[in-house]
Amino acid sequence: MASTANSPYHNEYQRAINAPEPFWQQQAAKLNWYKMPRSILQQQDAHHYQWFSDGVLNTAYLALDTHIEQGRGEQTALIYDSPVTNSKQQFSYRELRNEVAQFAGVLKALGVSKGDRVVIYMPMIPQAAIAMLAVARLGAVHSVVFGGFSAHELAMRIDDAKPKVVVSASCGIEISKLIAYKPLLDDAISKAEHKPQHCIIYQRPQLLATMQSGRDLDWHQAMAAAESAPCVPVKATDPLYVLYTSGTTGKPKGVVRDNGGHAAALNYSMQAVYNAKPGDVFWAASDVGWVVGHSYIVYGPLIAGCTSILYEGKPVFTPDAGAFWRVCAEYKVNILFAAPTAFRAIRKEDPDAALQRYDLSALRAVFVAGERLDPATYQWVAEKLQKPVIDHWWQTETGWPIAANPAGLELMNAKPGSATVPVPGFNVQILDDSGKVLRANEQGFIAIALPLPPGCLTTIWGNDERFIAGYLDSFPGYYASGDGGYIDEDGYLFVMGRTDDVINVAGHRLSTGEMEQIVANHPAIAECCVIGIHEAIKGQQPLALVLLKNGVEIDETILEAELVAMVRQEIGALACFKKAIVVKRLPKTRSGKILRKLLRQIADGSEYSVPSTIDDPASIAEIAQLMTSKGLVNQP
Ligand code: COA
Ligand code: AMP
Repeated sequence: MASTANSPYHNEYQRAINAPEPFWQQQAAKLNWYKMPRSILQQQDAHHYQWFSDGVLNTAYLALDTHIEQGRGEQTALIYDSPVTNSKQQFSYRELRNEVAQFAGVLKALGVSKGDRVVIYMPMIPQAAIAMLAVARLGAVHSVVFGGFSAHELAMRIDDAKPKVVVSASCGIEISKLIAYKPLLDDAISKAEHKPQHCIIYQRPQLLATMQSGRDLDWHQAMAAAESAPCVPVKATDPLYVLYTSGTTGKPKGVVRDNGGHAAALNYSMQAVYNAKPGDVFWAASDVGWVVGHSYIVYGPLIAGCTSILYEGKPVFTPDAGAFWRVCAEYKVNILFAAPTAFRAIRKEDPDAALQRYDLSALRAVFVAGERLDPATYQWVAEKLQKPVIDHWWQTETGWPIAANPAGLELMNAKPGSATVPVPGFNVQILDDSGKVLRANEQGFIAIALPLPPGCLTTIWGNDERFIAGYLDSFPGYYASGDGGYIDEDGYLFVMGRTDDVINVAGHRLSTGEMEQIVANHPAIAECCVIGIHEAIKGQQPLALVLLKNGVEIDETILEAELVAMVRQEIGALACFKKAIVVKRLPKTRSGKILRKLLRQIADGSEYSVPSTIDDPASIAEIAQLMTSKGLVNQP
């Protein structure tokens, strides 16, 4: 290891792996529980573990009320900065707690109580965070749906989570265009089998929504009429939220997060990974619709007593590629967290970082995640900022980083392309397909030995079989991450990409399986396959390879446009589905399975060997040639 056997990181890592119970008991003791847990870790069966099962707490209380009781009530808790509406707003811990308690009163009056679900479909406005915390205050369960998702995606989530109430806004604001949320919500509810009893709509002056009488309530009016509600104590193992993420099938998976493990893990990560202290200004430039937004816009920074920034804008064009630097300077941001794609977008617009003419002296480190940080982007950010740039790897499922350069323990030498070392609590191993642990530098499946540390998913909402089959069955005793990579001779982890049909477009996780289902519905198409191909700014973009039905004649440009419209309608614009090519045949095994991995390797421009099980070897050369001629093969 680059870090010596007695280094602070090494010692802490060994303590957490060798004796997890005392380690996590110590972390849990830093929180203000109603009832401190005595039971730290319990194994229920071969697949399920519980952290802190007899502890009682309330996550919103830890995030807000505790700080007021400890004298930080007047410190700024949340800064809203919105270049797209030209507005800014700040909330002290006391102000934010009061708003949250009032909105909890609104929900309570509508019958929301412990365990009930509330879906939140909101743009990046403070009311999104207020709604999340209000649900948590009542001991209910929120499920935030990213605002860029279509009505169809929202309907699937409504049907799965079965919310009593949906909270939404009249519109979101993208670069120079308004997105009317309310018609999407109305459409989703009409498509869904489950009908929420009420919708609470935050009317934005940019676009007023039409309300449905009896069902819809206006946020402001409801707040004015409500009585604030107190925190409801919950068990550590009760769910705090369900967050849907893409799997390999068309149906998203509802990752379930508990209250106690989540609070202990996030609080630990704020200190050990991010080196954040109470009063620091923490900015995760993400969206509350993603796990990064849950963990590091809302819960992590607030539980740790930091000031969190909620930014409604883009890294570029709102108004320019200096936006990130302006926000960092204006609020004296100490820790910035963003996706690599954001920096690639900034670099494209402002390669010399000429717009970085702001005072960034408060900034201590830049963290990146969401996709692999390619070495070129790493070098650019490190050179232009002259600050530590920390790649760290995590997933919706884990909720906090699995591997990082642990800035709060010891800043290690970074290696471009590596997320550095496993974070204390995560026993990361590289396995071959038979489950054998591989040696240094051998590439395989990245797995985490059970038990997972606190804060990771406890199951899939309403579908424990899928939890077991999707994550635990492939390698007994391990959680299979779905990512591939290797650990080098110094113990550094290199995450090289997904080993399944999940792709990452601009830091957004999407299922190619779901896109295939949509594309296959086109009347001209007999069969199809969707893979991720390289894209300079967004990292990846989807490409459909389609086989036409016998006798069908259709102009390829028209077909592509129709498919683009279908995916946009069914998933949303965020899928960035823009390319489809017609092929004569798809490479398959003799048993009829499409060789997706091989297609991915061709598109990546990487070495590939044709498997002996292939049905029609000539199809490979044909497709490789077609993709090359259309400029769809990456030139690494
Ligand atoms: N609501 C509605 N539509 C949305 C949306 C939202 N919240 N977010 C994105 N979209 C739409 C966009 O308007 C765009 O639509 P268009 O095809 O009609 O133009 C489409 O989805 C793609 O959006 P996006 O991926 O954001 O592309 P972009 O070209 O507008 O911006 C970047 C490119 C790189 C600046 C942007 O992707 C970005 O900031 N990425 C960072 C993502 C991130 O932080 N991920 C966090 C995970 S940790
Ligand atoms: P999500 O669940 O949306 O956060 O996406 C998780 C996936 O994003 C992971 O499984 C990885 O494939 C990818 N990912 C996230 N962070 C990194 C990183 N630092 N390096 C490589 N891949 C990453």
